[in-house]
Amino acid sequence: MNVTKFAIPEIIFGRGSMVHVGQCARRLGAKRVLLVSDQGVEQSGWVERVTELLEADNLEWVYYGDVNSNPRDHQVHTGAQLYQEAKADVIIAIGGGSPIDAAKGIAILASNGGVISDYEGANRIERPLPPMIFLPTTAGSGSDVSQFCIITDVARQLKLSIISRSLVPNISIIDPLILLTKSQELIIASAVDAFAHAVESYVSRIASPFTEIQALRAMELILRHLKPALEKKSIHALEQLSIASTAAGMSFSNAGLGAGHALAHSLGGMFDVLHGLVHPILLPAVMSFNTPVCTAKIGTIGRMILGPGARSDEEAALDGIDKLKHYFSEFGVPVRLRDILPERSTLATLAKAAVGDACNLTNPRTADEDSLLGICEEAW
Ligand SMILES: [Fe+2]
Repeated sequence: MNVTKFAIPEIIFGRGSMVHVGQCARRLGAKRVLLVSDQGVEQSGWVERVTELLEADNLEWVYYGDVNSNPRDHQVHTGAQLYQEAKADVIIAIGGGSPIDAAKGIAILASNGGVISDYEGANRIERPLPPMIFLPTTAGSGSDVSQFCIITDVARQLKLSIISRSLVPNISIIDPLILLTKSQELIIASAVDAFAHAVESYVSRIASPFTEIQALRAMELILRHLKPALEKKSIHALEQLSIASTAAGMSFSNAGLGAGHALAHSLGGMFDVLHGLVHPILLPAVMSFNTPVCTAKIGTIGRMILGPGARSDEEAALDGIDKLKHYFSEFGVPVRLRDILPERSTLATLAKAAVGDACNLTNPRTADEDSLLGICEEAW
């Protein structure tokens, strides 16, 4: 086996684990925290809850909440300015992938200077980042454990993928009780995002036994618990989705992603679509494209989707992809690109923007611009 690495943060997991946030910040030397979140999380009361917990630990805080879904470069620049003006010493983010990615961008600029596009690609960050603590409020992005940060470059209309080991936070506090306050649409979008992280990282060129085991477990948990989580909103099922999302995050953070996320990033840069909702559209087409070079692995995923029964790898792969399409369509989410894009002519632009995305590097089958356009055509 080739030499491999596996980097993850300290993870504090469990119902009510949020109460440890002040103590964790203190351990990291905090006196004045920059807290990053967004309006949605603010409205659900979680930001106030964190500030109460910080005050209970005698910590000062400043708040930055000007973050959109698909966070923008200028929002990161403003946040970094606030961090410096406030003389903050630790960054805490509570939210889905957007506030967490914005917080990572802020941490990069606060310690390394420049503008966020300077760091596009892999391993471009030189100086250590401020200590970071993340509290995910969705079970999907995996950003709270990952080496990835995705920021929208507004002028170029694309998403910057920034990948560096220094983007793994010090601590991720995962409290599944937060998921009880989330909408059905957000639970679906987050779970299918996590499922795509698991599938893409499982077949990645740099997958290792340490990432594969996490990816397979994540897929299994999502297939078993997503429907009960939606139908009954049971805390047990939501907690299992949290575990799945974390496992998928540990996998993709270390194994990378693939053509599906490269296309998802170009889609998100051009049209402000909810990231998770593009995977039911793209993932089956990406799996079909990859099957010729990793038939056994896609077959393993297929068997998990199909259940018991003897099949060849190829049969399991093809039938599994078909059943996955059906599974996604049962959630009432868009399953064709034509459902979310204005014109078919945009597909060529999408493929062109995706080919250079860092996620495309680890796709198991080389995906040039024509191949990516072919995947988009199949998903149209
Ligand atoms: Fe994702």
